Amino acid sequence: MSETAKLIIGDQEYELPIVVGSEGERAVDIRKLRSKTGYVTLDPGFVNTGATTSAITFLDGEQGVLRYRGIPIEQLAEQSTFVETAYLLIYGKLPTADELARMSHMLTYHSMVHEDMRHLFDGFPATGHPMAALSAMVGSLSAYYPDCLEPAVNTETHITRALSKIRTLAAFSYKKTIGQPLMYPRNDLKYCANFLHMMFAVPAEPYEPDPDVVRALDTLLILHADHEQNCSTSTVRLVGSSNANLYASVSAGICALWGPLHGGANQQVMEMLREVHASGVDYRQYMEDVKSGKTGRRLMGFGHRVYKNYDPRATILKKMADKVLAKLNIEDPLLDVARGIEEVALRDDYFVSRKLYPNVDFYSGILYKAIGIPENMFTVMFALGRLPGWIAQWKEMTEDPDRKIGRPRQIYTGRGAQDYVPLPKRRAE
Ligand code: CMC
Repeated sequence: MSETAKLIIGDQEYELPIVVGSEGERAVDIRKLRSKTGYVTLDPGFVNTGATTSAITFLDGEQGVLRYRGIPIEQLAEQSTFVETAYLLIYGKLPTADELARMSHMLTYHSMVHEDMRHLFDGFPATGHPMAALSAMVGSLSAYYPDCLEPAVNTETHITRALSKIRTLAAFSYKKTIGQPLMYPRNDLKYCANFLHMMFAVPAEPYEPDPDVVRALDTLLILHADHEQNCSTSTVRLVGSSNANLYASVSAGICALWGPLHGGANQQVMEMLREVHASGVDYRQYMEDVKSGKTGRRLMGFGHRVYKNYDPRATILKKMADKVLAKLNIEDPLLDVARGIEEVALRDDYFVSRKLYPNVDFYSGILYKAIGIPENMFTVMFALGRLPGWIAQWKEMTEDPDRKIGRPRQIYTGRGAQDYVPLPKRRAE
């Protein structure tokens, strides 16, 4: 007999089914709760709410485990490429050699954006944050490919366009901020190398991406590729649940990612490390200020809603930072500050008791800096990495026969019914 939970409200007892995931996670299925009892649940921040079932990513925050389609993140970071990982996430299995070659070919031949889109950048202020340009441009893609408004039409092509063109738009959004010509993609370069070319090449001279930098970028993007129902992914699903097209849904995800508590944290980590380094103060003092809560600051790059252990992505990035900086012959004092802060935090009762460990953003900024990515592009890099995850989750949702438009309830706490007061009769409250 399948397991159930009992809910007692007053003198009524209700039985609710228990849903068990493939890794043994358990959920009380409350789909019929309101119709059976008249009650809803209240869960600000959805801390206890499973919004969906999903077969894409498994995450065990207590044990520090992350797997895409069952494959441990450590193995993918070591052996896969970003394009192969994107295929895995979106289509549910590792591609064969032919499938991978086909996907690479399609990504190459969908990399240019409509010329009119290039001109859209002319109207953008160069001083604007590249995330503003990126979200606007990605939403605009739906105007250039209007068949995306029809559900389930040319889905594979739209997925390819999104993966390939958003990379181009990401690089353009940076070129705009420095006033350099937007560089066309090159068909002889693979995904990450092509991105670096569009970021750093200029028409006046040849540019060849450094293979070490290409590999580092590949790994960074793999590590960001999906993270189950986080803020931006939930946004993509919520927007997509109204049958909004892929580009509109991803554009909304980009906006959600931008915030400093989510994808914007990597930029904030660098600002924090630089501030600590420049002030010359002992970083222990900085951490005392964080702990006292007086400054209203948090230790950026620390803590996570689901990881109550070391974020496995941070473990990989920490090792990678040592390796990549050594290989590229870079000495960055901010890496020492980061190591020092981590060492103190891991022994400090404030952080230990709250289970606050370094997250993916703690070391990623140092790596992005080492491979030449400017700080205002860090969150754009996160968006580029998260793209396959957003697409996979959007696709899974659109194909789910149980899908419903996302529409949470609320508990109203405002005024009771009142009459409208005409303006001359109103008094200041
Ligand atoms: N520094 C200092 N204290 C912290 C921090 C931090 N980074 N994170 C949480 N706390 C404290 C918090 O003050 C609270 O303490 P108390 O119980 O005394 O009030 C306790 O830990 C629990 O915090 P919370 O805000 O309830 O936890 P949450 O799960 O709602 O927040 C978080 C998760 C990631 C927003 C938060 O840890 C944070 O703000 N971290 C810094 C920003 C950051 O690095 N974000 C990137 C997350 S990883 C990338 C991604 O997936 O987006």
